[in-house]
Amino acid sequence: MHVIGGSASTDLAERISRELGNSPFSVPFLKRFPDGELYLRVGGNFKDEDVVIVQSTRTDQDLLELLLLQDAVREGGARRIFVVVPYFGYGRQDRRFFPGEPVSARALAHHVELGADAVVMVDLHSPLTLEHFHKPAFEASAIPAFARQVRQRPVDVLVSPDKGGADRVRRLADILGKPWFALEKKRIDSERVELRFPDAVPADIRGKQVTIFDDVISTGGTVVEAAKLLRDHGAGAVTAACTHGLFLRDAFERIKAVTDAIYATDTLQNGALKVSVAPDVARLLEKDCARA
Ligand code: R5P
Repeated sequence: MHVIGGSASTDLAERISRELGNSPFSVPFLKRFPDGELYLRVGGNFKDEDVVIVQSTRTDQDLLELLLLQDAVREGGARRIFVVVPYFGYGRQDRRFFPGEPVSARALAHHVELGADAVVMVDLHSPLTLEHFHKPAFEASAIPAFARQVRQRPVDVLVSPDKGGADRVRRLADILGKPWFALEKKRIDSERVELRFPDAVPADIRGKQVTIFDDVISTGGTVVEAAKLLRDHGAGAVTAACTHGLFLRDAFERIKAVTDAIYATDTLQNGALKVSVAPDVARLLEKDCARA
């Protein structure tokens, strides 16, 4: 397989190529036309090769780059195109909440699958997204990656900042054999939340190494409030960990001020300590995509 890294996912793409046994890796040449349109060119001839394109769609421009990459690779004669979208943007609008709205996740799925033979994503916001694909689509989990990382960094108790993330935290806690619990979250607006302990807290956190584990850190409002609450209740050290680290505006600095470490996977490029999902994505490409 030849691996191509889009500009939103270069580092992860290179790691995936290493995991695939040092398969050929390249990045496209990119420039902007005077009117702002994107120009790109991929090197090489992919005749009868399987090509993996890795590109998160955090921004609209990232999505456009992905669509152009798919077309360029098809033009290059690729046998099959496997598209890895580590962070699937617009995944949060997975249904129509009010009349007149689009199902954005479905619109993206349709466009991404047009130029793909199989699609791989990581920790989707909603499992409904997979149902919007008509071609083989797979979801890799970041839980094994965090399990590998946590074995190198001690943790006593795992915490989900809300009930919605409880299952994810429970699965990680089960692998590690650690206690866990979920806080109760009330969202006030898009940036502010109120958190409180559940009525029965199954683990004592006093003096303990506590890790908050979430799927996405966006404005940082949730994890900052969670860290403060855990510290107020005597936690010895607090680590923030997430799959997708968007870290909007000054989120990173605000989280840094109330935690001892910040970990995120390489689905997005940011300043957090890295936990790589490359081995897990590579295994899906080899096993599920190649056989799809
Ligand atoms: C919510 O359902 C998610 O799991 C995250 O907790 C949320 O997206 C985090 O957002 P923010 O960082 O803006 O509080």
